[in-house]
Amino acid sequence: MALVTKFTEAFGVEHPIAQGGMQWVGRAELVAAVANAGGLGFITALTQPTPADLANEIARTRDLTDKPFGVNLTILPSINPPPYDEYRQVIVDSGIKIVETAGSNPGPHLPMFHDNGIKVLHKCTSVRHAVKAQTLGVDGISIDGFECAGHPGEDDVPGLVLIPAAAKEIEIPMIASGGFGDARGLVAALALGADGINMGTRFMCTVESCIHDNVKQAIVDGNERGTELIFRSLHNTARVASNKVSREVVQILKDGGQFEDVKDLVAGVRGRKVFDDGDIDAGIWTVGTVMGLIDDIPTCDELISRIVDEAEDIITARLGDMIKLDEPEQVTA
Ligand SMILES: Cc1cc2nc3c(=O)[nH]c(=O)nc-3n(C[C@H](O)[C@H](O)[C@H](O)COP(=O)(O)O)c2cc1C
Repeated sequence: MALVTKFTEAFGVEHPIAQGGMQWVGRAELVAAVANAGGLGFITALTQPTPADLANEIARTRDLTDKPFGVNLTILPSINPPPYDEYRQVIVDSGIKIVETAGSNPGPHLPMFHDNGIKVLHKCTSVRHAVKAQTLGVDGISIDGFECAGHPGEDDVPGLVLIPAAAKEIEIPMIASGGFGDARGLVAALALGADGINMGTRFMCTVESCIHDNVKQAIVDGNERGTELIFRSLHNTARVASNKVSREVVQILKDGGQFEDVKDLVAGVRGRKVFDDGDIDAGIWTVGTVMGLIDDIPTCDELISRIVDEAEDIITARLGDMIKLDEPEQVTA
């Protein structure tokens, strides 16, 4: 069965399901597994320490799949920004045809991507940013609701309102992101006006995701209340797993602390230890509220097939069965 949408047609994939960029997680094995299952996977550029490493990771992915896949370029304000232009050049030189941009305005990167036949899917967390990106000429929007792992923005609008609100304004293909993990979510996203879904947390918890099994098990064991919002007072909110470290960060900032006061607690090396060594209290790690809907660790192929098959069942059987045709009116002589 195939669900054909504006997204599958524009981005040349079989199923309307994307695996968005994930720092430390979006590597060759996962991205290739998603691609081989008919979804759209994105390598996370900045997980690779240098642009040359990104070129190697793209080559490694190509060894594992001949299906289309993309690269995520997350553009965040930073005191020592990574060499974005060099990463962008590697993306172009490697012949990648789809890029997911996120974090801030994709405008400066668009001309080079478009000049090289690359389609840009821009991920953002508000209708106004989606409209701006559409005006700038991106090829698709990924609209990320408050439920999501990572950066939900500062507006706190969940998908149930954000997706249809965006659908009113967006004419290009648009996928829904944040809180999706199963067929019910996919059907709901389509009903709300999206052309597909993007998932992070759900793909983290698959066989091919390269993180430690303890983290996958923590996701299976966790529930929808298992996240914290850190950096609220700094207007750079991030949704992460609730653990000793994230709760301490929340408390320090609530008590008036500044970034300097939590800098060591939130250090990337500590978060990396969680994924590499499986010590889930070692640092901050990103996860979304959809954790409450995740009960297993399937392969990407099992996951995507299950979502698509069950979506068909929901649409044709569960929802279809609810439709009762009006009885024809009795004609009396
Ligand atoms: C571990 C992890 C790391 C992430 N890192 C990034 C990132 O570097 N860049 C980005 O654009 N999004 C990142 N995200 C967000 C995802 O691409 C996606 O938008 C989000 O996970 C959707 O919400 P969900 O987890 O509820 O599916 C990350 C998500 C997770 C779970």
